[in-house]
Amino acid sequence: MPNPRKVVIIGAGAVGSTFGYTLMQSGLAREIVLIDIDKERAQGEAMDLNHGLFFAPPVDIRAGDYDECADAALIVITAGAKQNPGESRLDLVQRNVKICKQIVAEITARTSDTVIIMVTNPVDVLTYVAQEISGWPQNRIIGSGTVLDSARFRYLLSSHCRVDPRNVHAYVIGEHGDSEVACWSMTHIAGVPMRQFCRLTCKRQCSDEERAGIFDEVRDSAYHVIESKGATYYGVSMALERITGAILRDENSVLTVSLRADGHYDLEGVCLSLPAVVNQTGIHRIITADLTHAEQEALRRSANVLKDIIDRIEL
Ligand SMILES: NC(=O)c1ccc[n+]([C@@H]2O[C@H](COP(=O)([O-])OP(=O)(O)OC[C@H]3O[C@@H](n4cnc5c(N)ncnc54)[C@H](O)[C@@H]3O)[C@@H](O)[C@H]2O)c1
Repeated sequence: MPNPRKVVIIGAGAVGSTFGYTLMQSGLAREIVLIDIDKERAQGEAMDLNHGLFFAPPVDIRAGDYDECADAALIVITAGAKQNPGESRLDLVQRNVKICKQIVAEITARTSDTVIIMVTNPVDVLTYVAQEISGWPQNRIIGSGTVLDSARFRYLLSSHCRVDPRNVHAYVIGEHGDSEVACWSMTHIAGVPMRQFCRLTCKRQCSDEERAGIFDEVRDSAYHVIESKGATYYGVSMALERITGAILRDENSVLTVSLRADGHYDLEGVCLSLPAVVNQTGIHRIITADLTHAEQEALRRSANVLKDIIDRIEL
């Protein structure tokens, strides 16, 4: 029987430890366990986090081993190699498929009753690999997908329109990577479609060039951050806290997590991000809206990029 507030983080590097830091302050978890092939690193991170406990809601934080997965309500996988400057997420694939297979085998030897969030890149491909290796119901293995990209999109739209990002509703779907798709047709601010909002507030419609510029910045954000500081970890950690909350608190939140398409938009045999209702079962329901023809075509191209990779990996 899973402990409903126990979260195991596999990979205590920049993303795993920053997520631990975000999670400990959220009050969502009562137990946080860090597992890393580098045991000393995991112990050091747990020690450092524990030194902040006086300032945080009660939570037990420790380094551990795979036996800790047996009663976890949620397992978050951030272990693996990361993008080097100039390297695409898909270049990482061979290195990280091998690590992913080892980790999923360790988990499934100890539990079949938990939800897994894959974070390691290329996240869509590894979500697919984890689903195949585990044989678990696909709704319980999800990827962080484009939750971060959708947040970046909302942030940039909010700056453009000068409104609070929480009043912007906008989704990035498809691959978490170069072929991702901005759903302009679903973008609205406080219920007002984006184009109409710009007309009302700025007395002019924003141009196609302005929109393309915003999306280019969303898509290339990770490259810019990695070039500047070597890795991205704050934004993704907050995105992970959001997904964790949806799962542990059974929220039915709509999030663009990576999931297995099963005929949605005529796509199958691939994991990619679509808006989905997320709760304690993982994916509760996938939401398919009326995308424009161009958006559907872009989504199909994105799925094909991922399928090409999946066809080339050895499971
Ligand atoms: N999905 C997203 O939105 C998103 C965002 C940022 C980073 N990432 C990805 O997250 C991953 C981690 O990034 P990072 O910056 O934390 O890297 P990092 O190098 O700082 O940390 C990776 C950790 O994984 C550990 N590790 C390696 N092999 C392992 C194994 N077999 N078992 C257990 N632990 C193992 C390493 O010891 C290291 O501590 C990368 O693949 C990166 O591309 C994803």
